[in-house]
Amino acid sequence: MNGLRTKIMGARAGAGMVAFFLIFAICVACAGPAGTAPSSRPERIILNPTQNPSTSMAVTWRTTDAVKKPQAQIAVASASPDFIDDAVSAPAKTETIKIDGVNPVYYHSFVFESLKPSTLYAYRVGSPAGWSEWNHFRTASESAEPFSFVYLGDPQNEIESMCSRVFRKAQMKAPDAAFWLFVGDIVNNGENDDEWREFYDAVGWIPRSIPMILLPGNHEYKKTAGVSEGLTYLWRPQFTFPENGPAGLNELKEASYFIDYQGALFVTLNGNERLEEQAKWLKKVLADNPRKWTIVSIHQPFYSTAGNRDNPYHKMLFTDIFDKYGVDLVLQGHDHTYGRTHRVFKDKKRKDKGSVYVVTVTGPKQYKPSELYKDLMAKTGTQTQLFQVIRIDGDKLAYESYAVTGELFDSFELAKTN
Ligand SMILES: [Fe+2]
Ligand SMILES: [Fe+2]
Repeated sequence: MNGLRTKIMGARAGAGMVAFFLIFAICVACAGPAGTAPSSRPERIILNPTQNPSTSMAVTWRTTDAVKKPQAQIAVASASPDFIDDAVSAPAKTETIKIDGVNPVYYHSFVFESLKPSTLYAYRVGSPAGWSEWNHFRTASESAEPFSFVYLGDPQNEIESMCSRVFRKAQMKAPDAAFWLFVGDIVNNGENDDEWREFYDAVGWIPRSIPMILLPGNHEYKKTAGVSEGLTYLWRPQFTFPENGPAGLNELKEASYFIDYQGALFVTLNGNERLEEQAKWLKKVLADNPRKWTIVSIHQPFYSTAGNRDNPYHKMLFTDIFDKYGVDLVLQGHDHTYGRTHRVFKDKKRKDKGSVYVVTVTGPKQYKPSELYKDLMAKTGTQTQLFQVIRIDGDKLAYESYAVTGELFDSFELAKTN
């Protein structure tokens, strides 16, 4: 205790030193984007699954300085450090954008292809001017092997301060998750690069090893005087998602897509625009779907769980399709509460068929629950920061929702009988 007091008093004593550090800090803050000097070192490295994660994987990163010859390098991982001898290099694609129309940053991406299924790889990204560390990821199996993934609702606010603890607990609870799935409103203002910086600081090294599936919420859309002006210019440069969504619609590129993962189909919808075209596309995707499990994700919930909210147009367009094609699980966010339905078919609770709809929330902003669909709900809640671990194993899907403090908050199982 005495030692601590001495340190605090000592810190107060050196006014001259404080002035020096203040001037130094101001100089550094003037030097480049987000208060830091331009750097050729890779930052914000993130893996995204491709349509076929058993043989390919996408990686994106950025530098705040222009670099020559950005590259991705990869080798089959081994315990021996000699794995580096077998690494191969490939040139990355670079896209330059200006943050707030002023500070240029350089987004680089590469898709590793022709990989072996069920194999642990080591990769790094960078250029002769600076490299990342070597990171590991595992390709998916070609067959329906068991796997788990993490599902997260809106982080959105106080991402660094209050969401980090959720991400850390989720990683400890499911260290071998095949991927994490975010259902939008990752940040509060999608145009604010510093909020995205917070997100990467909060998730730390996790997206360098665990691929991330993300879809846009309404907060990833640019708005002027309350009118939407489209998906933020920061979305596509910083992620590399499959471009297998509705054909010919640039608005939906990398924001509406599907991924095949070990016998399960994951469809992400962009609930913010072009809903009719996505409904048509979804019908086609689901009509040709031999996978055992089908999971759809979207930001806006079909059975709202908060306040006076409701999304009848979304419901009118999509829930009949889910019923017809036997979607198992619908993962949603937006309502900043928790709500998990029983199986629902034609808007009614059923034991024998129908989809389970879930809304959850990661961040500290929490709304008052709604009573609107209370007859459909199996579990509701609010004022609770949550994460979910979902395991698919053959004919069984086991769902668990955990509070950030580690207690089991909700769970259920689905089983296939045919
Ligand atoms: Fe939202
Ligand atoms: Fe939100």
